[in-house]
Amino acid sequence: MLTMKKMIAARLAEGIAALGAPAAPGVEELIAMLEYPPDEGMGDLALPCFKLSRTLRRAPVQIAATLCDSLQGLECVGKAEAVNGYLNITLSGQYLLEHVLADIKERGNRYGGSDEGKGKTVVLDYSSPNVAKPFHIGHLGTTVIGHSLKKLHEFVGYSCVGINYLGDWGTQFGKLIVAYKKWGNKEMIEQGGIDKLVELYVKINNAISGNEEKGIPADPALGDEARAEFHKLELGDEENLALWRWFIEISLAEYEKTYRQLGIEFDSYKGESFYTDKMPAQVQKLRDMGLLKIDDGASIVDLEAYNMPPCLILKRDGSTLYPTRDIAAAVYRKNEYHFDKAIYVTSNGQSLHFAQWFKVLELMGYEWFDQLVHVPYGTVSINGAKLATRTGNVVLLKDLFKAAIEEVSAIMEEKNPDLENKAEVAEAVGVGAIVFYYLSNSRIKDINFVMEDALNFDGNTGPYAQYTYARTCAVLRKAGELTCEKPVFTAPEEISLIKVLARFPEKVANAIADYEPSVITRYILDVAAAFNRYYHNCKILSAEDETVRATRVEITRAVNQVLGNAFPLICMRKMEKI
Ligand code: ARG
Repeated sequence: MLTMKKMIAARLAEGIAALGAPAAPGVEELIAMLEYPPDEGMGDLALPCFKLSRTLRRAPVQIAATLCDSLQGLECVGKAEAVNGYLNITLSGQYLLEHVLADIKERGNRYGGSDEGKGKTVVLDYSSPNVAKPFHIGHLGTTVIGHSLKKLHEFVGYSCVGINYLGDWGTQFGKLIVAYKKWGNKEMIEQGGIDKLVELYVKINNAISGNEEKGIPADPALGDEARAEFHKLELGDEENLALWRWFIEISLAEYEKTYRQLGIEFDSYKGESFYTDKMPAQVQKLRDMGLLKIDDGASIVDLEAYNMPPCLILKRDGSTLYPTRDIAAAVYRKNEYHFDKAIYVTSNGQSLHFAQWFKVLELMGYEWFDQLVHVPYGTVSINGAKLATRTGNVVLLKDLFKAAIEEVSAIMEEKNPDLENKAEVAEAVGVGAIVFYYLSNSRIKDINFVMEDALNFDGNTGPYAQYTYARTCAVLRKAGELTCEKPVFTAPEEISLIKVLARFPEKVANAIADYEPSVITRYILDVAAAFNRYYHNCKILSAEDETVRATRVEITRAVNQVLGNAFPLICMRKMEKI
């Protein structure tokens, strides 16, 4: 669509130049002004001419009429009309068909992408669970939005570094060590894995702060013990270090199962602990620059002038904090990767934290502070219930995936019992259903997860999208080698579908500009709807005329390509048979 917009804008620019007005808009500006009308009856593109009337010093109606003339004879334009100060443009069906199909065929796996980010690097910090705490449904957002943004950036040419900034340091390890020594043993953890670790973690938290509901009294002495064990860890105590490493290893093995189901791989697992020895230099710099203030014994950076609470750098006992580590990590990453952009995906509960330390970096004179982007997302509840981590009232991601896979298996057993690789398909469709459902929402909105809705094969869901993809595969399998020399346009459904396919590159650009994977999810639904309409109303393999048949197979091939390119952008696998 963009190429056609460009051709049209170039002609419009000529038409405008002929009007002889100073400060006339250029081609780029005109491209941006071309709108997609809300309904197809009004054409495919529209130029609201009232926006030009001041610069061109003419009435919108007159501008529309003049510009309408300037489009005469342009091959991609089927019809141009001046209506009430709007220039409405309908593209030529034949032109669209030929050019869009050729474009998709030529660019193949790269259709929709671009070279825009070539030579530039983006670092993405996402997923980043806290070791030994449950990996629950609240992490779904950072994990799939983060990975989706990575895929999108790669698709437009950036080189990307995906970082899992593991929460592998902090007082929680002191707690876990105490709990392990008190209630745990090697065998139990080896057998129970991360679930046992989480159980110990929940148990010690309940013991320290007490739990009225369960009738457990608070035991603050245990909290002191935990702090002491963490301190020993910080000082390099061999026994505690070994336990710490082991806890991480066990947690990682578990996370990796989930990442594998989602098709996610990270380029770096450098977690919080990695930055222990990199913080002092930054703290010293803050001190040297006179940015640190002592407040009740703690060291802070005052951000009152920026309408934010102070950013905490050191606790009273001199220990470092979450922002301290983030600052050190950002400086390290800048030196290591020379990024042009660094994206952090977390829940919106952390928005203030990011705003604060971004500001501190700016005050420290790091000129690249404006290359840091925080991408927040809303909260998740399940069937209306809110979740709480510390007490163990959570839904684990792996359990959610497991439930979805089981349900899909049951549906498939009923619908298609002879399918060959059932387990693989059930996993792809089950996990894909959850990811798709989650990413259908604008990221900042809170979401209530309803499994039934996510798995509905007839709704606007992942299974429906995957089913549509499989349907294109089935048509193509039957069509074999049939190819198309010169496509001919014969049905309106063909053109409606082609127009949707033509918009993929712009959708990718929009998704990146807004850090919004839901643009792609919704786009996939548009493609699926247009294809299914086409599939039901137009004969494809049974079309009598050979050219019509070849054209329609080629259109199906294009749909297959576009869906195939789009799925991985939202962490969804594609299956040829369902
Ligand atoms: N581990 C943190 C959490 O689970 C998220 C880390 C986000 N990344 C960052 N650079 N702070 O809340």
